[in-house]
Amino acid sequence: MPQSYVIDELISAKAIAARIEALARDIRAAYHDTDKLVVVGLLRGSFVFIADLVRELDLPVEVDFLEASSYGDGMESSREVRILKDLRGEIAGRDVLLVEDIVDTGFTLKHVIALMQTRSPKKLSTIALLDKPSRREVDVKADWTGFEIPDEFVVGYGIDYAQRNRNLPYIGKVRFTGESGT
Ligand code: IMP
Repeated sequence: MPQSYVIDELISAKAIAARIEALARDIRAAYHDTDKLVVVGLLRGSFVFIADLVRELDLPVEVDFLEASSYGDGMESSREVRILKDLRGEIAGRDVLLVEDIVDTGFTLKHVIALMQTRSPKKLSTIALLDKPSRREVDVKADWTGFEIPDEFVVGYGIDYAQRNRNLPYIGKVRFTGESGT
């Protein structure tokens, strides 16, 4: 069981919505000539972000998902990325936008980009809602980032701690209170 903790708001729901509107404008411009954009969400942390993002994208889109594991139920990246669930569709020759919740050490994004590239998409771009640049261990950066954040463990807006708190409408940082939880 995780230790007891409280959650302090870091990024409000309103700030997230405003940032997504701006990001969607940039993505629309980058893909204005697409016949269809395949938006690939990295499960599970990106499910809320992708839902809001695609509704701001005034483009023909298809949505697909990929699940990669790197964290398990803990707070430390395993640095070993396994694909738990692959895409349903083909991406060869397609315009693809890969959607990640957080870039932390960077292992997940780097691994998934390499995997996607082996499938020869026409154009592959990446977007991450959050980036913790101070934690980076491999050289990778999303093409678009919602917010750069400090080295804090965060939850909410789809992001979990041991499968909890995904349903918070804002991003909060976890602050441990010292007692052990049940
Ligand atoms: P990376 O491979 O170390 O970049 O880890 C990326 C993945 O770790 C993200 O997609 C998240 O699922 C998870 N992760 C990284 N930081 C946090 C955090 O602060 N809270 C919850 N999950 C996180």
